[in-house]
Amino acid sequence: MELEKALGLIAEVPDFPEPGVLFRDLSPLFADGPGFATVVDALAGTLSPGVELLAGVEARGFLLAAAVGYARGLGVVLIRKPGKLPSVAGRVDYALEYGTAGVELPAGVVHPGQRVGVIDDVLATGGTVAATAKLLEGAGAVVDGVSVVLELAALGGRGVLAGRRIEALQVV
Ligand code: PRP
Ligand code: HPA
Repeated sequence: MELEKALGLIAEVPDFPEPGVLFRDLSPLFADGPGFATVVDALAGTLSPGVELLAGVEARGFLLAAAVGYARGLGVVLIRKPGKLPSVAGRVDYALEYGTAGVELPAGVVHPGQRVGVIDDVLATGGTVAATAKLLEGAGAVVDGVSVVLELAALGGRGVLAGRRIEALQVV
């Protein structure tokens, strides 16, 4: 399937999860085999050759990072919401477009100097990816770049992540 057609499977849902938010729902894209494969291949194509490990952000980032990791022969570190990991290397709290959140890094998985590519579905305010990068860099890793399916430009994530390589398959 063509990338444009695959991205066209993303649904727009007004007033979710609260009034005034136009939510982009990737569920129909994830549920479409050819569409999902197209997006996974396109994300894999955004990675620089030096990437050694992928970081997937819970939960939708897991799905994408796992598939891209398989396609590229790379492992995945799971960036988790707090309270899920038995052994934690670090935690960063941050503000979301709606509400607050935190991310945790599992202990002993990321090694100093390792080049990591961050994968997520949506870049909105940039808080999640910024927190993820801080976690990884706190463990001594090098964040090679950030790859997302969809960037919501109005929410300013690219500004928050200034200086980082950001690859978005679609910017709206
Ligand atoms: C969503 C999305 C990104 C993040 C983007 O995750 O999957 O991770 O928000 O927003 P930001 O750029 O403003 O930080 P959510 O926390 O809703 O988690 P989910 O994947 O578990 O649904
Ligand atoms: N869709 C999916 N995830 C999100 C969104 C959205 O519109 N905004 C922030 N995270």
